[in-house]
Amino acid sequence: MTIAGFNKIGVIGAGQMGAGIAQICATVGLPVTVVDLAEQQLDKAHTTIGKSLSKLVSKERLTQADADNAMQQITFVTDNNQLSDADLVIESAVENEKIKGEIFRNLDEILQPEGIIATNTSSISITRLSSYTNRPEKFIGMHFFNPVPLMKLVEIIPGMGTSEEVTQRIADLAVGLGKETSTSQDYPGFVVNRILLPMINEAFTALMEGVATAEDIDKGMKLGTNQPMGPLALADFIGLDTCLAIMRVLHQGLGDPRYRPSPLLINYVQAGWLGRKSGRGVFSYDQ
Ligand code: 3HC
Repeated sequence: MTIAGFNKIGVIGAGQMGAGIAQICATVGLPVTVVDLAEQQLDKAHTTIGKSLSKLVSKERLTQADADNAMQQITFVTDNNQLSDADLVIESAVENEKIKGEIFRNLDEILQPEGIIATNTSSISITRLSSYTNRPEKFIGMHFFNPVPLMKLVEIIPGMGTSEEVTQRIADLAVGLGKETSTSQDYPGFVVNRILLPMINEAFTALMEGVATAEDIDKGMKLGTNQPMGPLALADFIGLDTCLAIMRVLHQGLGDPRYRPSPLLINYVQAGWLGRKSGRGVFSYDQ
């Protein structure tokens, strides 16, 4: 299978986003290699993808044969060098510029000259991240939403140096993966997180000030504004560490005090209460 000229995809980082991205690529028949340094994380991704495919089969959105074929398209490895023949690598590692920078330097050496690097960063400057490579024209933001198999949108964020051809091919790929696209200029948080995260942050400040209980804040926003989840449950779903990282990028990048991270959000992260993934955030979850 080839979509927009892409034959083989690499995904770096086997967290919830990386697993979801690998799954949707494999479902349309693209071979995918998922790389993570931690074997345990790769095993977890394998299980997550298996469960998600089974859910889609049980809802008759996929046949069992399609799900089996998708699983066979995915290879899980710990060695980046196995990406040397990928024509696109989508980075979905932790939201930390130093770690991402090392990944991009390494990918720039490994990939063929025509290889494209996309980052699923939720808010860090694409232009700055591209400067870790010698291929800014082949570097782009491709921002997916959690849970990737269900969410319809991919934000496309060209950096200052990204070529128009690469931007178009990545948008075509997103459509080939069954998504819709919206394009954002390269400013902190792009569009969706610039608007979503201040709402979530405000929910933490309201909770800190005792305006209402966590349950009432979420119920109010869920039923009063027709959102599928309240902002605090959504924060637990995204990961409170990721929410805090995005608020810090908005605060530093835009320099406006209205983006100051809520002290309560900071406290949760310092306590290690990171949301669903750690079993406890604002709410508690069975592991
Ligand atoms: N794969 C396949 N199916 C899945 C799934 C997955 N990963 N996750 C959930 N489902 C299915 C469930 O099995 C369920 O199926 P059913 O209706 O047949 O029982 C269905 O989806 C609905 O799930 P639930 O009943 O568990 O719960 P909800 O009805 O609340 O739906 C949700 C779950 C789709 C996550 C919905 O609550 C939702 O859309 N929430 C908001 C998500 C959101 O805003 N995401 C964006 C976050 S921001 C982001 O990602 C950007 C980043 O940079 C921070």
